[in-house]
Amino acid sequence: MKFFIDTANIDEIKEAQEMGILDGVTTNPSLAAKENRPYREILTEICRVVDGPVSAEVIATDSAGMIAEADELVKIGDNIVVKIPTILSGLTAIKTLSERGIKTNATLVFSPMQALLVAKAGATFVSPFVGRLDDYAYDGMDLIADIVNIYNNYTFSTEVLVASVRNPIHVLESARLGADVCTIPLKVIKQLIQHPQTDIGLAKFLEDYKKVPKS
Ligand code: E4P
Repeated sequence: MKFFIDTANIDEIKEAQEMGILDGVTTNPSLAAKENRPYREILTEICRVVDGPVSAEVIATDSAGMIAEADELVKIGDNIVVKIPTILSGLTAIKTLSERGIKTNATLVFSPMQALLVAKAGATFVSPFVGRLDDYAYDGMDLIADIVNIYNNYTFSTEVLVASVRNPIHVLESARLGADVCTIPLKVIKQLIQHPQTDIGLAKFLEDYKKVPKS
């Protein structure tokens, strides 16, 4: 499973990259707003340090506007993936962009049928939002299971990118279900490596080593 980091913060991206496990980045307007810098400037800097896919979201809600924005966004870097909202006009934009060889990420997906439609339109990635479904007492991971199952029934090349990840269980379940990608906040990436028994065991080894005769 590929690991993307879900942030527009360049320091967080560099920190994840140093861990040696980073495959790409996802951003959105809300994450960009936290940085208090122009979105294009942020994306340019991210593309300078990351080789993998970098998702950049359009603001337009009509197909022509989405396509025009996509044409500008892809000039930022070869690795830009254009994030398109999963609405009717978005489907048209995904179809047109995929026919032109521009990679797309269908965002704000909350149902298996939305996922089926964006795959038919040629989306490169589909982004089901698991955390936001959990907020409504619907298990977000059930949606991932449905989408993986439906895609496996056919020959879609669209990659399942689990988004709105809030905790390590979301990542574990994504891997169990065979999702292609998980986009994860830095805090959760760091939680994945932690185990109290590792810390206790390490402290004991270091303490015991003091009792080993030194030459
Ligand atoms: C990433 O592609 C999504 O925009 C992001 O994961 C949404 O996460 P949130 O529900 O925590 O805002």
